[in-house]
Amino acid sequence: MGVFSITVEIGDPQGERFQAVEALVDTGASYTAMPASLLRNLGVVPDERRPFILADGRRVEHDMGQTWLRVDGRTRMTPVVFTDEGTQPLLGAVTLEEFGLGIDPVGRRLIPVPGYLMKAEDAEALVRADLAHQIHPQFHVRDHQDPVIYVRGEGALLWDIHGNEYIDGLSSLWNVAVGHGRKELAEVAARQMRELAFSNSYVGYANVPSIRLAERLMSLVYPNMQAAFFCNSGSEAVEGAIKIARFFWYLQGQPEKMKIIARKEAYHGGTLGATAATGMPAFHQGFGPMPEGFVRAETCYPYRCGHCRGADDFPFGDLHLGRRDDFVRAHDSGRASAHQLRGTQPRQDDEFECIESRWTLDHTTFFPRVS
Ligand SMILES: Cc1ncc(COP(=O)(O)O)c(C=O)c1O
Repeated sequence: MGVFSITVEIGDPQGERFQAVEALVDTGASYTAMPASLLRNLGVVPDERRPFILADGRRVEHDMGQTWLRVDGRTRMTPVVFTDEGTQPLLGAVTLEEFGLGIDPVGRRLIPVPGYLMKAEDAEALVRADLAHQIHPQFHVRDHQDPVIYVRGEGALLWDIHGNEYIDGLSSLWNVAVGHGRKELAEVAARQMRELAFSNSYVGYANVPSIRLAERLMSLVYPNMQAAFFCNSGSEAVEGAIKIARFFWYLQGQPEKMKIIARKEAYHGGTLGATAATGMPAFHQGFGPMPEGFVRAETCYPYRCGHCRGADDFPFGDLHLGRRDDFVRAHDSGRASAHQLRGTQPRQDDEFECIESRWTLDHTTFFPRVS
């Protein structure tokens, strides 16, 4: 995660003798790390041994001590890790925090950053301001009295205003797939914003990065996909999918095929079409009338499935094909436009597998088969 190197001076424990070193600024490293021989020559003595995780996941142990370090003319005592010979000296996150320095990824330099000195009253004031001025998705004030307010992320970890550390097990909302604190992404975004902050993508207009991204994406996804429609959120993507499916049938001369089959228990988002697709009645309450044409299939979870409940063995992986004809009759599914079945894959024989996997849809063969 290092982005650039700078010259620092590592000193002896008395702060009398300093030696210049090129160190990689690396917030992916907790501590500053220097080759053991360099530290020993300066008279730095290890005072403990600690476990570390390397970039490739290996676990190792190294000696640690502390000594003086000079950065930009300022000197601080900092913890140092004694690393193997030939390894690159690193300037780690703890040292940067001690110096009150952060990274300017564009200028590739260190910049002064404020530390957090948040009193309990400050945190309370933030919560009050949040409640007073911000409307959250799927929100009720009563359930939002003690929100977790995040301030920082690094890799798979998050910190809140009280300094509590969390594992970001959901990758935030499944959208921080490459981890927090990716300086290279911040750098690219900052560069792009300086060049062109926004461009209209309606018909007749385009921009270079979105063309390149669409091209690259198509080189990575399943061969049955040809083009991308970029959206700003999951809900918007769901709206887009619904519209694309209906428009497909409209172009086929069958506009009556407009039904969207969505599962009970499935969450599809906060916009109106996505709310209608969402199979949880609580999310509909107060937002009616819902758009037309949404019908429910059973949930993926055998334990909650209306057909499986009470069964000795759960036919996991099966959407009750014996009842599929009933379902088709009951919902006039011949008019189905799309099966918005989260985690569902159509199989060759037109069955549906209730498996937790990605929705893959061969639109050339699947839509005609849903009839
Ligand atoms: C399966 C699924 N679809 C759609 C959404 C809505 O995404 P967004 O909150 O980005 O609008 C979510 C959000 O959790 C989701 O889990």
